[in-house]
Amino acid sequence: MPTEELLSHIEPAAGAAVAVPAAWYNLLADAGFELPPDVASGGEGPSLRPQVPLSIIRQELSTQRWIPIPEEVRARFAAWRPTPLRRAEALERALGTRARIYYKYEGGNLTGSHKLNTAVAQAYYYRAAGAKRLAVATGAGQWGTAVAAACQMFGLACQVYMVRASLLAKPHRKTMMELLGATVTASPSDDTEVGRRFLADGADGGTLSIALAEALEETRDPGTRFCAGSGETYALLHQTVIGLEAAAQLAAIDEGVRPDVVIAALGAGSNFGGIAFPFLRARLAAREVPGARQAPGQPLRCLAAEPAACPKLTRGRYVYDHTDSSERTPLQKMYTLGYRFTPTPMHAGGLRYHGTAKIVSALYARGLIEAAAYQQREVFESAVLFAKCEGILPAPESAHAVHGAIAEAARADADGTAPRILFSLSGHGMFDLEAYRSYLCGDMPDVIIPAAEIEESLARLPAQPEPAAAERTG
Ligand SMILES: Cc1ncc(COP(=O)(O)O)c(C=O)c1O
Repeated sequence: MPTEELLSHIEPAAGAAVAVPAAWYNLLADAGFELPPDVASGGEGPSLRPQVPLSIIRQELSTQRWIPIPEEVRARFAAWRPTPLRRAEALERALGTRARIYYKYEGGNLTGSHKLNTAVAQAYYYRAAGAKRLAVATGAGQWGTAVAAACQMFGLACQVYMVRASLLAKPHRKTMMELLGATVTASPSDDTEVGRRFLADGADGGTLSIALAEALEETRDPGTRFCAGSGETYALLHQTVIGLEAAAQLAAIDEGVRPDVVIAALGAGSNFGGIAFPFLRARLAAREVPGARQAPGQPLRCLAAEPAACPKLTRGRYVYDHTDSSERTPLQKMYTLGYRFTPTPMHAGGLRYHGTAKIVSALYARGLIEAAAYQQREVFESAVLFAKCEGILPAPESAHAVHGAIAEAARADADGTAPRILFSLSGHGMFDLEAYRSYLCGDMPDVIIPAAEIEESLARLPAQPEPAAAERTG
């Protein structure tokens, strides 16, 4: 990997090994493929467009490798970045593994997760574009809390639609958002057309897809803009501060550590893209130059950890689908379980989204990244062991990466290898004690989705665009 180039974008800070990156890393500069274009949905009623500021659209379409981080955003980042990178030595001892396990901890900010990285960047660009209020959808509450905090920093009002089932399970998330000045509404709600439609259909527990459609409807109000948390390419770009810092921090250890496996939980994809993309660059470069060698041994692997209850990469299909339940936003090509798929309630609410970021999907379709699906009981077992060893309680979403790291270490021990494993500990689980209680009491179920249920959902996909419209899908 061209580590020197990565490092040149991270100025050393006085007294610290690394500082906040000066630029985001744009994987599209090295991907060697274009993303399939979005296609108008053809749904009934006026189309709903998120009205993303031009500054962000330019980032989305850019093939420039390094995109400078505005100074005001960087100054905000400095309140909690660089985030810690640690070796999980106590966990390694408890496992008796020969693998070395490192984690990058993103939970040490007020909002408790990685989501704040793109929330701050987006609030900055939306304010510059004249927005007065941001409307968002949140599942587990992490994204809503992050946008509430970012709006508060930049003087914007904030409307959050939170999936009702999650809100009931985690009432303190609502309190947290409200104390940051946001208005929080349980979704589906009576306040929007789409919310009323789903309430009438009896879908009162809600899904992220419905909450997204409700937040989008708010953009009918002039001055209100919709703000996407995770699946859009620009959100993944903003999250690359995670992987860039991790690369610099690993390079600063001893003679420099190069991970063999990078693991992150996959919701829509920003957490995974954020930590993996800067490392994936080496693998893409090796592929592009015939005969090029990136390092002795195996190429770096990137593993997306998803829940068995919402297995879009491991059991979904790579097709055009809606990103929400309004049926009126442009279709995106992605790995999906179908936009009407309603995952069984489970405790990692942030991983219940039906689809996958199109850039992560394109990488998976080309075999450049891997995925594994885990059951929630094994995930919580790993999270509890991690908490005892390392002193941080993982968010249930992050716990999927903890489990992925433990499973990889066990596999390596069985194979007689000793890899260096890096994973994203994307958030803390201090709002998720109800889930941990359920695990400890033994009343947490594992979820096995019958193939027929997935097939039934995929049968309700929107009509696929003509090959002409999608011909650049490559
Ligand atoms: C703590 C935590 N980790 C990971 C995820 C999944 O992240 P992403 O949607 O960026 O893939 C979420 C989503 O809410 C989360 O809250």
